[in-house]
Amino acid sequence: MTSGLVAARDAARALGDRRAVPDLRWIGKLTGATPAAIDRVLGELAGAIATERRIREAHRAGGRSFYAQFRAPFDVYAMVRLLRPTEIVETGVSSGVSSAAFLSALRRNRGGRLHSIDLPTRQATEKLGRRESPVAIPPGRDSGWAVPAELRAGWDLRLGPSERLLPVLVRELPEVSIFLHDSHHTPQHLTFELETVRPRLRPGSIVLADNTVWTGEAFDRFAASLGAPIVRRRRSDLLGLRVPIPD
Ligand SMILES: C[S@@+](CC[C@H](N)C(=O)[O-])C[C@H]1O[C@@H](n2cnc3c(N)ncnc32)[C@H](O)[C@@H]1O
Repeated sequence: MTSGLVAARDAARALGDRRAVPDLRWIGKLTGATPAAIDRVLGELAGAIATERRIREAHRAGGRSFYAQFRAPFDVYAMVRLLRPTEIVETGVSSGVSSAAFLSALRRNRGGRLHSIDLPTRQATEKLGRRESPVAIPPGRDSGWAVPAELRAGWDLRLGPSERLLPVLVRELPEVSIFLHDSHHTPQHLTFELETVRPRLRPGSIVLADNTVWTGEAFDRFAASLGAPIVRRRRSDLLGLRVPIPD
């Protein structure tokens, strides 16, 4: 096993999520990076073990050791390190597993910004009820509650429905280099978010959508309209595409 993959496995263990072991093929197809380049940036995760442990401890302190969190934090870490994007937009923050990964890579890049939108789902009482959503935020905490303090500088976190906030945000940005949809998973909502960011996508921009098992053909139609092949992360329903770069 390569040193990058060893570091990423250790980081996944520290985070407490086996699914977080990166998919090298997925990263390679979406970034065009060589296996050696991917291995090099994943190797940096050896220095992130303490941070991942703290995110896990924050989850435990918040009453859960695991929830419906984003499964590919180290894949997006690698993408940001490899492509050095200027503007990242994500919808759906909850405790902030994906946000922490983006922020950590941007910090290492010493450039670029993360803009996150979350309509928090609030947990009713101290203990998560059986009928409550696993992404609900525990009492006394806010969206992004597990993101370590040292990563938060410069984070543009906006609270409210993406139906209202995303069009406003997108108008402020010169481009969207990476977009991650992880908010309300319906075909209509995913289509709304994709069409909202479309005018700011550039050749080489990356678009990711999680939980596409609930969003019908929305992502497939969007990819077809761009002429971009869909790249699936392992056998999961986390899909990505890269906006084609003309020859
Ligand atoms: C699956 S969680 C996000 C997980 C997160 N990306 C992570 O890495 O752990 C989905 C989040 O989207 C929020 N959400 C639901 N509907 C939304 C909407 N219309 N606009 C913005 N956020 C929404 C939920 O309340 C929840 O906080």
